[in-house]
Amino acid sequence: MSEAFFPPAGGLSGQLRPPGDKSISHRAALLGAMASEPVTVRGYLHAADTDGTLAAVQRLGALVEPRGDDVVLRGTGIRDAREPEDPIDVGNAGTLLRLLPGWLAAQRGHTYVLDGDESIRRRPVRRVLRPLREMGAGVSAVGDRLPPLTITGAPLHGVDWQLDVASAQVKSCILLAGLSADGHTSVTEPTVSRDHTERMLLAAGVSVAREGTTARVANIDELALGEVRVPADVSSAAFFIAAGLLVPGSRLLLRDVGVNWTRTGFVRIVQRMRGIVLGEFEPPDAPLVADEPVSDLDVAHGALEGTVVEAGEVPAAIDELPLVALLGAFAEGETVVRGAQELRVKESDRIAAVVGGLRALGADIEATEDGFAVRGTRGLRGGVIDAGGDHRMAMLGAVAGLASREGVTVRGIEAAAVSYPGFVKDLAGLC
Ligand code: S3P
Repeated sequence: MSEAFFPPAGGLSGQLRPPGDKSISHRAALLGAMASEPVTVRGYLHAADTDGTLAAVQRLGALVEPRGDDVVLRGTGIRDAREPEDPIDVGNAGTLLRLLPGWLAAQRGHTYVLDGDESIRRRPVRRVLRPLREMGAGVSAVGDRLPPLTITGAPLHGVDWQLDVASAQVKSCILLAGLSADGHTSVTEPTVSRDHTERMLLAAGVSVAREGTTARVANIDELALGEVRVPADVSSAAFFIAAGLLVPGSRLLLRDVGVNWTRTGFVRIVQRMRGIVLGEFEPPDAPLVADEPVSDLDVAHGALEGTVVEAGEVPAAIDELPLVALLGAFAEGETVVRGAQELRVKESDRIAAVVGGLRALGADIEATEDGFAVRGTRGLRGGVIDAGGDHRMAMLGAVAGLASREGVTVRGIEAAAVSYPGFVKDLAGLC
C-alpha cells in the first residue's frame, strides 16, 4: 500500500480534460462486444475497472484492438458469446458485475461464473438474480446474495420490473436481457438513475422509450453502433470541482465533460450551496435522446452555504455524495444528506468511510442510517485518511489535503487507479 501527502495548496488554476467516463466506457465495451459489426470507441477510459471489461469481453469471444485513446471492438453478436473455461474476473467493478449477467442470461445452454476482488464479494447481487430468474435464466450466488455469481443462459421472456431502490446497474442488466427476451421488457425506478444504457441502445437501433421513471426496450437481433464518443467523466471532474471551490484563489476550466442530467446532481447541489460552476447543462427531466451532451465547466473558489440533499436527488449524485460531505465541512451552516442508504453497499460502506475519514481530519460529522449530517466549521485541520481500497475515498482525501490547514496523508492512494490512474499527476498539474 502506498501513501501520499497532499499539502495545503495555493489557488488551483489551468485547464484539464478529465479521463473518459467510466459508466459510458463499460457500456461501450459491452455493447461493442454484443454488436455484429466493428465498433470504434473514441476516448475509452483506460483504468483498472474498464480495462477489466475489455478483458472480460475478450474472454467471451470479442476482439479488442486498442488504438491510442480509442478502442475498436469486433463483437460476437447478441446471442453468440463464447463460454470461457474459468470464471470471469470483474476485479473491483460493480458495474461489470451487474451489467454482464444481463447479456449472458441470453446465451442458451452456456454457463458463466463471475467473481472479483474482496470488495466485489461483499456487493449484493440478489437485485439482479431476481429479475433474471423471473425472465427465465438460471442464476445462483453465495446464499443467493453475494458473488461468485453463476449464470446459465436460457430462452428469456420480457418482464415489467419494479425496483425499490434506483439503480442504473440493475436497470441496465434487465434492459440488456430484454434485448433477447420475448416481447417488451421494462424497468420502473423510484427516481430515474443514469440513463447511458438507454441512450447507447437508442444509438444502436434498439426501440427504447422512457415514460416517467420507466424505461422500456423491445427485443432485437443485431446492434448497429458504429462509433461511440466517450465524454470526460463528470464523476472524475467532481474532484477538481470540489478542489476549485474549496481552495482560495482557484479558477479552473474542465473541458469536454459529460453533462447528461442523470449525472449532474452534484453540480445542482453545489450551485445550491452557492458554489460557482458554470457550463451548458442538460436540463433535468430532458427527454431521452441518443446523444451524450458535453460542456466545458468553469469553476471558481467562493464561500459555500450548507444544504439538504433529499432522496430524490440521490441517484444523479450518488458517487459524488462523499464530496458533498467534504464541501459541507467548509460551508456555513449544516449540510445533510438523506435517502442515500445505497452508499453503504458501494466499493466500501461510503457512509462509514466518509464519516470516519472526515472526522479524523477534524470535521464535525455524524452518520445516519441513510446518509450523514455535517456542521460546517469553514475548514479542516488535516491528518491521515485511509482509502480502504475505495478509489473515490482516495481522491477525496487528496482534495481534502489541498484545502486543509495542515495537509492530508492518504493511505492507499493507488486505489485511485480503479477509475483515474493519472489523478495525482493531473491534480499536481493544476496546483
Ligand atoms: C453505475 C451506477 C451507479 C454508480 C456506479 C456506476 C453505472 O450504481 O454508483 O459507480 O455505471 O451504472 P447504481 O446506479 O447501481 O447505484
